[in-house]
Amino acid sequence: MTEPLIVGVMVRTLGAYPSGWRYPGAHADPQTDAAVLRRIARVAEDADLDYLFFGDWLATGPDLEFRDPYLLARIDPLSAALYLAGVTEHIGLIATVNSTYADPYATARATASLDLLTGGRAGINLVTGAEPRAAANHGRDAHADNETRYDRAGEFVRALRLLWESWDADAWIADTATGVLIDADRLRPAAFAGTQVRVEGPLNVARPPQAHPPIVHAGTSPRSRALAAAEADLALIAAGDPAVAAATRAELRALAEASGRDPDDLKVIVPVVPVVAATVAAARAIVDRLLLLVPIDDGASDHARRTAFPQNRSLTSFLDVAEIGPDDPMREASIDDAVPPGTAGRFAEAAAQTLDVVAARTGRDLGGSHPVTWRHLIAAHAVPANFVVGSPQAIADHFELWRDAGATDGFNVLSAFQPAQFEAFTSLAVPELRRRGLIGRSGATLRDRLGLGSPCLLHDSAPAAATGR
Ligand SMILES: Cc1cc2nc3c(=O)[nH]c(=O)nc-3n(C[C@H](O)[C@H](O)[C@H](O)COP(=O)(O)O)c2cc1C
Repeated sequence: MTEPLIVGVMVRTLGAYPSGWRYPGAHADPQTDAAVLRRIARVAEDADLDYLFFGDWLATGPDLEFRDPYLLARIDPLSAALYLAGVTEHIGLIATVNSTYADPYATARATASLDLLTGGRAGINLVTGAEPRAAANHGRDAHADNETRYDRAGEFVRALRLLWESWDADAWIADTATGVLIDADRLRPAAFAGTQVRVEGPLNVARPPQAHPPIVHAGTSPRSRALAAAEADLALIAAGDPAVAAATRAELRALAEASGRDPDDLKVIVPVVPVVAATVAAARAIVDRLLLLVPIDDGASDHARRTAFPQNRSLTSFLDVAEIGPDDPMREASIDDAVPPGTAGRFAEAAAQTLDVVAARTGRDLGGSHPVTWRHLIAAHAVPANFVVGSPQAIADHFELWRDAGATDGFNVLSAFQPAQFEAFTSLAVPELRRRGLIGRSGATLRDRLGLGSPCLLHDSAPAAATGR
């Protein structure tokens, strides 16, 4: 029988779609994140999903208001994971750490601590970062180039593993009669000296229950793929199309095999935004509203605000606004007629594709009684999303199609807004996914749930330390 898919929750409290926070009833205030984080965690655990996943971004600025509002302000990922460890009992907790800026000893300590405090539920998503502003926030002159970042990331992983193995599982004797607390022979330094990472050790946290908490890696470049293939347990890839994802997954598995691993030990995961409601029409109405809530420069807002919009959010970039209003219906062949001279070709092809997507996702049509408007088109063009829209059956069909195409081993589920859309996913789609056997993993530790088996330890003298609890 085929294994159930891995299903985790990519937690973005302000919602994964940039206008999600504007949806009626949606969470919109980071100062009350604690309550919504607890709610998401409990709902995810009740639905028996595999893990909660916290991304990260090491800088902020007003430009993010329109592009990625959820990045503006949010709880540090390890802190969020630790906080939610206290209100959950079974679910995995994966926190993102940026290896370009993080300190390996502090990271090994924090993740080993999380693993110990949760009985083996910790995981770490190692990224090398794509935000240049992070450099100035960490006392650097510039964000390092791809090669340098991935050289460091490789050393960083090695250092983590060595530090996690500082203590053998049976190093702690605690013999009250003899007064012997530890077996000093079962404690060892990491003694790692790379070109970018140097750390002596040992780690001042005992052996974590999983020995090596699962390592996720998210990235896109060839060096990223090589790192994922050699070191990661989960590779988080970006793909909107099952054929593209299947090709990436096949490449990653081949690279893993070439680096001496069993390719089944590397699970490939894709992000997805299911917009789910009891009926297809209700789900489409949600997408319709989300599109209409995307702030765009339609000529009505004040100058200061208008200059803050990214260029692709401006009606004037595309349209002769004297002739056409944002809420006017689109008509056949209206794209080429409407755009200012010189921009037609650039915009028209993308717009025609987007138009089809908008029509399918909202149930609107061209020129009929329920028409797609220019506002819909510009919003969808400016804010593309990996949406799957529909009833629980449609969501399950999508999951099944991707699995059967060999496109993925699982999904990181994002919700357009919180908590209602996540709760719709768990209450409506999860029972259907379970009924079809598409989800339903078990295991006491995160490694077990992910089907990873015992880790390859670097030190032979610590055979008993692996998972299996
Ligand atoms: C699905 C996915 C999720 C990612 N999540 C994060 C994240 O939370 N924080 C972060 O700094 N970078 C994240 N990244 C960015 C990667 O770290 C990477 O820097 C970026 O994709 C550029 O690719 P490269 O590093 O392979 O050149 C993510 C990438 C992907 C594909």
